[in-house]
Amino acid sequence: MCGIVGYLGSNGAYEILIQGLKRLEYRGYDSAGVALVNADGCLNVHKSQGKVSNLEQTAAAGDTTGHTGIAHTRWATHGEPNDINAHPHVSQSGDIALVHNGTIENYAVLKKLLSDHGFTFKSETDTEVLVQLIEYIKLTSNCTLAEAVREALLQVEGAYAIAVVERNDPDTLVVARKSSPLVIGVGDGETFIASDATPIIGYTDKVIYLENDEMAIIKRGEPLSIVSVNSNQPSKIDVQKLRLSLAQLEKGGYDTFMLKEIFEQPNTLRDCLRGRITSDNRRVVLSGVELNKEKFLEAERITLVACGTSWHAALIGKRLIQDFCQIPVEVEYASEFRYGNPVLGPKDIVISISQSGETADTLAAIEIAKEKGAFVYGVCNVVGASIPRATDSGTYIHVGPEIGVASTKAFTGQVTVLTLFALAVGQLRGTVSPEQIEEIATALKAIPATIEETLKVDAEVQKLSRIFTYAHNFLYLGRGYNYPTALEGALKLKEISYIHAEGYPAAEMKHGPIALIDHEMPSVIIAPSDSLYDKIISNVQQVKSRGGAVVAIVSKGNTAMNDIADFCIEIPEVPECLTPLVASIPLQLLAYYIAVNKGKDVDQPRNLAKSVTVE
Ligand code: AGP
Repeated sequence: MCGIVGYLGSNGAYEILIQGLKRLEYRGYDSAGVALVNADGCLNVHKSQGKVSNLEQTAAAGDTTGHTGIAHTRWATHGEPNDINAHPHVSQSGDIALVHNGTIENYAVLKKLLSDHGFTFKSETDTEVLVQLIEYIKLTSNCTLAEAVREALLQVEGAYAIAVVERNDPDTLVVARKSSPLVIGVGDGETFIASDATPIIGYTDKVIYLENDEMAIIKRGEPLSIVSVNSNQPSKIDVQKLRLSLAQLEKGGYDTFMLKEIFEQPNTLRDCLRGRITSDNRRVVLSGVELNKEKFLEAERITLVACGTSWHAALIGKRLIQDFCQIPVEVEYASEFRYGNPVLGPKDIVISISQSGETADTLAAIEIAKEKGAFVYGVCNVVGASIPRATDSGTYIHVGPEIGVASTKAFTGQVTVLTLFALAVGQLRGTVSPEQIEEIATALKAIPATIEETLKVDAEVQKLSRIFTYAHNFLYLGRGYNYPTALEGALKLKEISYIHAEGYPAAEMKHGPIALIDHEMPSVIIAPSDSLYDKIISNVQQVKSRGGAVVAIVSKGNTAMNDIADFCIEIPEVPECLTPLVASIPLQLLAYYIAVNKGKDVDQPRNLAKSVTVE
């Protein structure tokens, strides 16, 4: 998944574009590039492999003048990360430059057609095919840049958010999107475009979220024009007020975004809960449920679809919904669901869970669920993202922009919303009593303070991390609500420290994985004082008796475990269904500090991007 930025206005475009790219680097950072059009009719392109700082070094030796430009930071999908494959890509004549986030699925066919007409290609990318196609259409039809872009997009199959400029016209910037996101910032005599709103903050708070299949023609001194790619008919222009602040973006004094986001979970969960539990704690109010009561009353099955950490939240959601709503729940990886020919109908509810709201597999799963007649509900963090706009209804988790590639506050936000959702639907269907709601809702309202308390284990976990910095493998074990917590703890460790880690249901050990246990295979075992505690004690003993080191996550005051496990980390006691919210905090910290000890780039781990908008 890549990031694109564009500018047309009265200021120098280069600095604005570079700062914008830096705010988008979490979307992908294999390579970066910029194309600038100046008043002398020059189109200057600078690009380089690696991070934006490499691009700045490259561009410093070149011409960076111009009031119009486009820029790109890349997460490779076609062609390896290198200078040649870096965007912007330029047409054969050198007249047109383009940046692209997405995939052109029929690029091979188009490339053959263009090659047959004498076009040659420098890169392995699908994007270069698109800019050459635009040039081919412009030359053969003698039309404007915008007309050529639209005609080219009618021939394209796949996903795109693009920005296009032309050497001879410093007063025009053309953008369009399908499936990949694109936001337009409307300034005073200047216009910004970006993959999300973060590069725009500080310049304007007026934004337009371009819809699928829309193209915007930005011309200096003229009103913005937005048309349908398919029909060429004008689209309604809906200018919204941006509510993100720069402060939300800064690291807030922490070394990394990830650490900031771990420590801001008490506040982000206050935002997530705000206005959703009545003052007497006896009712949950979720507008998405209130407005679709019939759907939730007649639902006969719920299917949760998600990827990665969001899929772990879905596993917890399954237990919550079954416990409080007595509705059968299935959980599917979105990538498996979309190709699994799911059998769905009008009594089915499909819930998509996604932090970014741009994950391609999850978006595709939603489309299939809708085609099959299911009611689709979204749990998402990014307001105005593609997934919330594709679902029938939903609930935002409101935890603010999550910049660290490894998800932390979004996970706890998703689990919190799923808890609210289960209580809201349970109260609607009468499968949960007001007393049960009061018990859970009271504890849920206190969760921000409970996590504040839990975060006090920070120094203890940082010290513990030094013991395991050079481990090569880890097992994470949990039961019931905390089997998904174990999976999430393992994912955190592997994705930022690059140490192999696996999560298992603790009781599953004796069916094979226990063969792995020896002094070189430490285990983290989540063992709160819940209904399964007595069962998990024996799992801890099984691991210890085979020489495995055990880090146990236990409820505060449980001193018995000190006699069995090698290390115990105490967490506050909460109702069983809320233990993942608390137990996940030391697991986030453990993964974080081990990765820092190993000198890893915690915010931008290798090979990863914050949102996977391609298959
Ligand atoms: C989690 O730490 C990862 N960054 C990744 O698994 C992520 O959860 C997954 O790609 C899904 O992203 P989404 O929630 O934005 O859809």
